Amino acid sequence: MTFIYGVDYYPEHWPVARWATDAKLMQEAGMNLVRLAEFAWARLEPRQDLYDFDWLDRAIDLMAEHGIDVILGTPTASPPPWLMAQDPTLFRVNEEGRRLTYGHRRAYCPNHPLYQMHTERIVTVMARRYAGHPAVVGLQIDNEFGDRCYCDICRGAFHGWLAERYDSLHEMNERWGTAFWSHIYTDWEMIPTPVATVAPHNPGLALDYNRFCSDSYVRYQRLQIERLRQYCPDRQRITHNFMGFGYPNINYFDLARDLDFVTWDAYWRHQWNMGNPAQASNMALSHDTMRGLKQQTFWVMEQQSGPGGWELVSESPKPGQLRLWAYNAIAHGADGIVFFRWRTARHGAEQYWHGILDHHGEPGRRYHEVVQMGQEMQDIGDAIVGAQTQADVAMILSYDSRFAFQIQANNPSFNHSAHFQEIYHTLHERQVTVDIVPPDADLTPYRLAIAPALHVVPEEVADNLRRFVDGGGILVLTARSGVKDETNTVVDAKLPGLFADLCGVTVSEYVSLAPHAQTQVTFAEPVAGLPATVAVSVWCDVLEVDGAEVLARYTEDYYAGKPAVTLNHYGKGQVLYVGTLSAPIYEVLTPLLLNLAGVQPVFTAPADVEVTVRHRDGRRLFFLLNHAAELRTVTLAGTYTDLLAEGKTVTDAVDLDPYGVCILTDLP
Ligand code: GLA
Ligand code: ZN
Repeated sequence: MTFIYGVDYYPEHWPVARWATDAKLMQEAGMNLVRLAEFAWARLEPRQDLYDFDWLDRAIDLMAEHGIDVILGTPTASPPPWLMAQDPTLFRVNEEGRRLTYGHRRAYCPNHPLYQMHTERIVTVMARRYAGHPAVVGLQIDNEFGDRCYCDICRGAFHGWLAERYDSLHEMNERWGTAFWSHIYTDWEMIPTPVATVAPHNPGLALDYNRFCSDSYVRYQRLQIERLRQYCPDRQRITHNFMGFGYPNINYFDLARDLDFVTWDAYWRHQWNMGNPAQASNMALSHDTMRGLKQQTFWVMEQQSGPGGWELVSESPKPGQLRLWAYNAIAHGADGIVFFRWRTARHGAEQYWHGILDHHGEPGRRYHEVVQMGQEMQDIGDAIVGAQTQADVAMILSYDSRFAFQIQANNPSFNHSAHFQEIYHTLHERQVTVDIVPPDADLTPYRLAIAPALHVVPEEVADNLRRFVDGGGILVLTARSGVKDETNTVVDAKLPGLFADLCGVTVSEYVSLAPHAQTQVTFAEPVAGLPATVAVSVWCDVLEVDGAEVLARYTEDYYAGKPAVTLNHYGKGQVLYVGTLSAPIYEVLTPLLLNLAGVQPVFTAPADVEVTVRHRDGRRLFFLLNHAAELRTVTLAGTYTDLLAEGKTVTDAVDLDPYGVCILTDLP
């Protein structure tokens, strides 16, 4: 295996006469891969059944002549006008019930038989043509799958999906509780999609629809994989470009299952977070999530290469940041960095989404930074590729719970993803390695498992967590856990439902706080150096203990003195129940938990310096990343080899330049 270092390239946007210059500049930057063609359907098939692949052949061959391999994208994310003109129902219907029109991309319905027919056609033609091509090393399916469709074709497919999930219509009615408001369906055909109506839909129906939409993309992707695999040898590995932790509409664990490997699109700066630069911990969480989808190393298929923007232009990456952000991906398990894009487009909706080169095409500051890193990858890429991440801590990501909170947020200030991020942040800032795993994951490798607001809980999941604690694991559950069964029905028991015995508490009452309202909790035995009293907002579960020890109590209002945070011994393990949903409490709880679980930070380092570790052949690779604009010094506990300094030996301390990177490894 070689470390992948490359770029997304759109030769179809530029005169053929320019291509050789581009290939040469890429080669000089140390690149060994380009992604091509994922938006080129109209150039590959200008009219139905009239194919023109000659230009792509030339582009691939030119790359090969420069020692650059190719990942080909199937072009289905952006169909040509002639195709979408064939039937107005090819366009997706959004949640408001409005049918989309031509003009952007990702506007198709994934369940449409005509769209699937065209998909199979173009994918088959591509597969047959490039199956034997030595330079084509992989395939990317479509591009950033996602948005939900609420059209009549999806409605029909949803009926079939439900008929497979439930033994009978009667059973479905019972599970959804359709006696409420007289929604008892007497024919599958009567079931609507949860498109906007006067008030919320039945939560059972709405959760199943979110699952169905996720499955629709999993199935649509599988249709492409099956076509490709009919012709393409295993050496041509199949992937899709995911969108990180934050993307809410697809169960990414399901989407990853059929793929050979995961890639994702990592943007630190874009027009949608201007003035609010993504914290390093949010990017780290996305990388960890992407690594967790298959418990494998991954690639970044679109690594930021300049300011990003459609209508607006984001803040420019400062000198050193493009390289730093690429190393941040590697530090969390990436074995490939593919920049987006090569040259800034002169036309189209992404005129301001900047590439490595500006519109004019002359190499500039960003190109030189990419060249520097390309040289480094040639020197040290072989030492990194394939190295594994080992974590003592798992965070449990439940897409079912996330989908359920999309339907009922519970509190206007509550956001499940933000809650998850806030807890992750407190681990990240303490240099703790975290795996992101699904609720049914084997938890035996971990000492500590954290399940933020694990809301929708099938029995198997409760059993899985029980086994983990029984065997000695430390588990954290937070408020709104165990509230719903698999069909989004509230459990017929005191909360936290199936977790009550594990936690040794029940919720005697819950208090949903008004926006901006705050109350507080006090810890009985504060951890040395940490505050005893912490503000809480959003939500308060008022607890009644049934065997658990009380760590903190509420101090105000009619529930003053009642337990808020508890710790219970169960089997060989312990369970912490946190009755609130706001962030500041983790400044106290996270150190306490790490202590309890005996989890050590990778390295102690100043704030703004991120430290991670990957393991290969019994040696550790430490990544020290300075996200600050000033120099930072990290004290070392041993003697290491500095990989980026030609193997120089370092002891005592290392200095990191502003936005600087250092990679240390154990002495041989
Ligand atoms: C996504 C897409 C790209 C491009 C970039 C920038 O990640 O996959 O095609 O649109 O965003 O907007
Ligand atoms: Zn549809």
